[in-house]
Amino acid sequence: MSTPYHTPSGAASKALVEKGQTYFIPNYKPREMILDYGKGSRIWDLDGNEYMDLAAGIAVSALGHQDPDLLAAFEAQGRKLWHTSNVFFTAPAIELAEALVEAVPFCERVYFANSGTEANEAAIKLIRKWASEQGRPPEKREIITFTGSFHGRTLAAVTATAQPKFHAGFEPLPGGFVYCDPYDDLTALEKMITDKTCAILLETIQGEGGVKPCNPGYLKGVRELCDRHGILMAIDEIQTGMGRTGKLFACMHESVAPDILTSAKALGCGMPIGALLAGKKVAEILQFGSHGSTFGGNPVACAVALAGLKKINTPQMMRHVAAMSERLFAGLGAINAELGMFTEIRGQGLMAGAVLAEQWKGKAGDLSNLARCYGVLVLIAGPDVLRFLPALNITANELDEGLARLKQGLAAAKPA
Ligand SMILES: Cc1ncc(COP(=O)(O)O)c(C=O)c1O
Repeated sequence: MSTPYHTPSGAASKALVEKGQTYFIPNYKPREMILDYGKGSRIWDLDGNEYMDLAAGIAVSALGHQDPDLLAAFEAQGRKLWHTSNVFFTAPAIELAEALVEAVPFCERVYFANSGTEANEAAIKLIRKWASEQGRPPEKREIITFTGSFHGRTLAAVTATAQPKFHAGFEPLPGGFVYCDPYDDLTALEKMITDKTCAILLETIQGEGGVKPCNPGYLKGVRELCDRHGILMAIDEIQTGMGRTGKLFACMHESVAPDILTSAKALGCGMPIGALLAGKKVAEILQFGSHGSTFGGNPVACAVALAGLKKINTPQMMRHVAAMSERLFAGLGAINAELGMFTEIRGQGLMAGAVLAEQWKGKAGDLSNLARCYGVLVLIAGPDVLRFLPALNITANELDEGLARLKQGLAAAKPA
């Protein structure tokens, strides 16, 4: 690395950063730099500083930046037709839906939204409509979600998100959600199921909640509980899906077939798109007029997503994810052997969380900032966990370089 230290906000970025801070509603706190250009897993700011991208836009840019096949799909569709609304069919949306149905064994039909939150919102509405068609009155349409979950920010999705910090001040929240504590405990879950329950909604690995995987057998156990009680199983694979864990969707590691699966993030590889994948029981519940979106199934987003799916859903790519995963976990382990800053490194595939040791608790934000100054972009999952979600096609060299920079950044945080 030529420059060991990047100025957090160079001259070229400064003026624009100040405008951003002036004109945006302050619900975000972006790092004080302007990202300008990306290629592969490298990204540059306006001041010319180069970063290794181990964040991939929060698990979105699954094929890195400027992937030639995605660019070709984007350009070809962009030059043909950008938007029609759902009053009309377009080929890219049909082809993407067909490809998803073919790739995902349980899936019979697909609904397209524009984000993960919207896909979950559609799932919640679909669950309620199904329950209503079962003859269940509104008070018997409860959905169980889990402490530490994250399902999005609209009112229903944030209520499904069982983390009080995301609720505060937004009350009254919609009813119909109950929270199981803890996640990954079948006994606790079974105790929660009553005749009011109509569905269970869960992540396969809690991403925003701290990169917390569930134990082998848990998802199968949830499926069995749902079958035994005649309720729906909905899996939110918005962060874990599209190859991130080494299979197209993480539930496929255990061949678990939910009734509903939501996808977004890497589905569009950077284009805003979300999808609800519906199994047999619920594939035809949302009839004409029941739900919709002006932009959902946008042809440009679908064309890029289809090109991404074709490239991601291959044995070669899944082997590459497995190899890079080993390298990532080994690399984080080696950093920890030297610096002793983590108590645990957990996750699956190219989704890793490094849990900070006592002395560093609450400092994930500061450490990720320091890492950035040493030329690597990493994420946090709450205040105590550093999170790594590199592109699936990151090369061994890019990953090694990113980890070397991370080590420098973390070492700089330690007292001399
Ligand atoms: C598991 C999960 N569900 C839902 C969402 C919300 O997705 P979006 O931000 O695209 O609305 C996220 C985003 O982080 C997520 O990780």
